[in-house]
Amino acid sequence: MRAITNLSCLIHHNHYHPSLASAVLRSLRHRLPVFSPSLIRVRAQSTSTSHAELDNARTGRSCSLDSPPTHLDVTQKIDVNPPKGTRDFPPEEMRLRNWLFQNFREVSQLFGFEEVDFPVLESEALFIRKAGEEIRDQLYCFEDRGNRRVALRPELTPSLARLVIQKGKSVSLPIKWFAIGQCWRYERMTRGRRREHYQWNMDIIGVPNVTAEAELISSIITFFKRIGITSSDVGFKVSSRKVLQEVLRRYSIPESLFGRVCVIIDKLEKIPIDDIKKELKSVELSEDAVEELLQILSVKSLTKLEEKLGSSVEALADLKQLFLLAEKYGYSDWIQFDASIVRGLAYYTGIVFEGFDREGKLRAICGGGRYDRLLSTFGGDDIPACGFGFGDAVIVEERGLMPELSPQVQNIVCSLDQDLQSEASSVAARLREKGQSVDLVLESKPLKWVFKRAARINAQRLIIVGSTEWQKGMVSVKILSSGEQYEIKIDELE
Ligand code: HAM
Repeated sequence: MRAITNLSCLIHHNHYHPSLASAVLRSLRHRLPVFSPSLIRVRAQSTSTSHAELDNARTGRSCSLDSPPTHLDVTQKIDVNPPKGTRDFPPEEMRLRNWLFQNFREVSQLFGFEEVDFPVLESEALFIRKAGEEIRDQLYCFEDRGNRRVALRPELTPSLARLVIQKGKSVSLPIKWFAIGQCWRYERMTRGRRREHYQWNMDIIGVPNVTAEAELISSIITFFKRIGITSSDVGFKVSSRKVLQEVLRRYSIPESLFGRVCVIIDKLEKIPIDDIKKELKSVELSEDAVEELLQILSVKSLTKLEEKLGSSVEALADLKQLFLLAEKYGYSDWIQFDASIVRGLAYYTGIVFEGFDREGKLRAICGGGRYDRLLSTFGGDDIPACGFGFGDAVIVEERGLMPELSPQVQNIVCSLDQDLQSEASSVAARLREKGQSVDLVLESKPLKWVFKRAARINAQRLIIVGSTEWQKGMVSVKILSSGEQYEIKIDELE
């Protein structure tokens, strides 16, 4: 990899020597990653620097971004697959994505939320927290050409917090914002987990009461119902980090360890229990505290929790209120208490929740919670906040639940004669002005071809510009679903 960086130095520091550079490239090519069988030949610029950059990003090491070499005249085979863990969106995938995002948007608007967005590239510092979160090790980070440490965002919440602080008192509370954005995490690839995913977020800033969490859960349920998912397919596990806080308080464990303990406990289902115990002890928890903690985490009912912690703890009051609100909203059958839910991000402070599939095939479909103290970690004044993230990748894994979406266009317009191509263009322009979508056949094609294409794109009408009709100021129209056919004056075409 060092040689690759040196090569880019040769090119970018005006020491470029074409034959030397080509020789280095040739020798390097043997060492580049193995390409998949689906290779194409292209006249390409060297991609070797980007391999080096990605490798450095993966290991969290710094690397500077030199310009890609532009003078190399080499033929290189490229891998036609996108980088591991990332996706292309050909039309059929894009239709599904648009459909999903449309539903995210409509539900958010139904709840009175406004859309926001942030840069995909942020300052690395925004994502560095000391609690040992997985997300830190998964960061795609590097140094830019101005020697700034930057990162591709792994989540949207820190950017949202940054914007809230930046806006200060110019926005009135409560803020209700939603966003749909691409996030990057160098994840171990498992079902529903990729290195790039889109996340739908809804956040409420400025409401300390669990009425906010209840509203957020209601919006996710509204989304599920809208796309035909019921409470027998999906449920929500809910708890509060205040439960753990209470146990830690009883054992006089300092507040500063709270985030780290939560992050360790989040691994409960991922690593052996003995390793969890070891990790907890390594953050100065006594054996008794660890045992009590693990016992509390196995509790699955509020009555049992009350028996263990007493009725006066804050966690219990919050949870009881949330379950009462769930009843009022009419979604009690979707939610259940589960003390083992803590979520893996250090900043949550209160209620936490996650959406799960009842068959247990998928990773968490969505997750969120209250994060009342995140803003002060960025130097702002704390404002109570809560929200959730809902990834696109887990839900589309459930192809059975996703609709079959086909392309849709209202009209296909063609001319039967090359000389009438410009007339066909004018018919298309006229229809588009009236708001009708038109696929214009751009070259003279046999009718059989046009019919095939019309079927593929699901056109509703076929409009044929033929010379006999055109001379009468008319075109032929065929309604493709019924086969009905007629001629119509061009002026009357709607
Ligand atoms: P999170 O639990 O890390 O929370 O992620 C939220 C959701 O994003 C997950 O439940 C999953 O649907 C999706 N997701 C996360 N990582 C991946 C991945 N590698 N591949 C596919 N999907 C993934 C957060 O990110 C918080 N910032 C959410 C939040 C917003 N909390 C408050 N406001």
